[in-house]
Amino acid sequence: MTTHPANADSILADLAEGLPIGRVPATLYGNRELYEREKLNVFARCWVFLAHESEIPANGDYVLRKMGEDYFVVVRDEDGQVNVLFDACVHRGVQVCRADSGNTSHFRCPYHGWTYDTKGNLVGAPLWRNAFGGLDKGSNGLRAAAKVDSYQGLIFATLDPSAPTLKEYLGGMAWYIDLVFGLNDAGVEVIGAPQRFVIAANWKSGADNFSGDDYHLGTLHRSVWEIGAYPIPFAANMMGYHIQASPGHSLSFSMAPTEDEPGPKFFAFPERLTETFAPREGRLSAHQLDVARRARVFVGNVFPNFSILALPIIEDGADPTGVLTIRTWQPIDEGHFEVWNWFCGYKNMTSEEKAHSYRSGLATFSMGGSFEMDDTEPWITVARNGRSTAADVLGLSLNYQMGMPGIGIAHPVQDWPGPGIAYWTRYEEGVQRNMYRFYLDMMRAEPGHWPDLDFAPELIPGSESYGIDRLESLR
Ligand code: FES
Ligand SMILES: [Fe+2]
Repeated sequence: MTTHPANADSILADLAEGLPIGRVPATLYGNRELYEREKLNVFARCWVFLAHESEIPANGDYVLRKMGEDYFVVVRDEDGQVNVLFDACVHRGVQVCRADSGNTSHFRCPYHGWTYDTKGNLVGAPLWRNAFGGLDKGSNGLRAAAKVDSYQGLIFATLDPSAPTLKEYLGGMAWYIDLVFGLNDAGVEVIGAPQRFVIAANWKSGADNFSGDDYHLGTLHRSVWEIGAYPIPFAANMMGYHIQASPGHSLSFSMAPTEDEPGPKFFAFPERLTETFAPREGRLSAHQLDVARRARVFVGNVFPNFSILALPIIEDGADPTGVLTIRTWQPIDEGHFEVWNWFCGYKNMTSEEKAHSYRSGLATFSMGGSFEMDDTEPWITVARNGRSTAADVLGLSLNYQMGMPGIGIAHPVQDWPGPGIAYWTRYEEGVQRNMYRFYLDMMRAEPGHWPDLDFAPELIPGSESYGIDRLESLR
């Protein structure tokens, strides 16, 4: 394409042309017009993660969250139902909820006092008879998200009434969410409120990285190994699977080759806890449990901006412990996003186990954490170059070719027990191409129409079985 300056249509055309050959335009990470379209076509249409159910356990509990740039109250009403209400008073559009979280029976607008219940119904206003006697309250409630649903305690919503169900949207990704969040009957809970910090980068850098950018660990995070904070050597860490779970949603496992392999099991969560992990009829299969047992690291992204990370961390020379973080890459504009970062634990962990996991998480994946500080710096320059004139006029297209036929050692595997397209070894970037294929589909979708959620796999000629029996030869 020769359109300058690049605009949303020309960048998307470049993306459509580039993806089959593993190329992505650099301007994707910095163009203002594209970002404006993302707000409408991605954040106002896709299922967006908002909260974990353990944040609002009691009726009346609420948290203030964002869909795209817009604030929504996520509140459990008096019937125990979770509602997602646009935080804008219907009288003049004032923000009604002024705390990040709390418990309430009503939200009262600070401007003129219109008062709404936890379902969003307008229930009254000062001097009602004089001011509004005869007004229909029913049509003056807070606006709600089109659909709200949860999966394994994770609450999502969409503003698009034509969106598929959450289960359809997650597709194969639900199978993988089970094997972090559904390992036992006790389930998962958040440990404290989410940390928040702003990075001068594009939100897609976070999503791209957590879709399975494992390759950067040996370079960018080298110091983490040098201080002994991570228990798996780099070469072994790269062994595992890259999985395109369903359109848009990708993940990556570092995986022990067999059950008997020494090293962390179940991400190094304490053995006393992992003894409670078990297959349960209709909820967790033996295959899922086996994958979770062998998994050392799970890192994945639910499109657009919800990421999950479970991994073993060594803190203060102690034995490694599992850390589970969930996070959103919350867009602010094309060059800024806010990370919302929750640490989680299994509800049946002891308070000491939770504290150990939390400390280990803070030391690594938090604003002051060793991994986190490494990651954010390069993303800032991705955005700066993404909005540069040079990237535009020179037509800089970024290389996403790792693991394509003839490039590197990654191969698709046929013997993987889970849904989606799986590659053996994590030297692979199909996970990111999967994210951008779906991104492209959403960015080009007409209102009311949804891309096909049946997997349209990236067709790799001559794909062969390349299972765990081959691990030894690759180490
Ligand atoms: S703007 Fe909310 S009561 Fe007037
Ligand atoms: Fe990283």
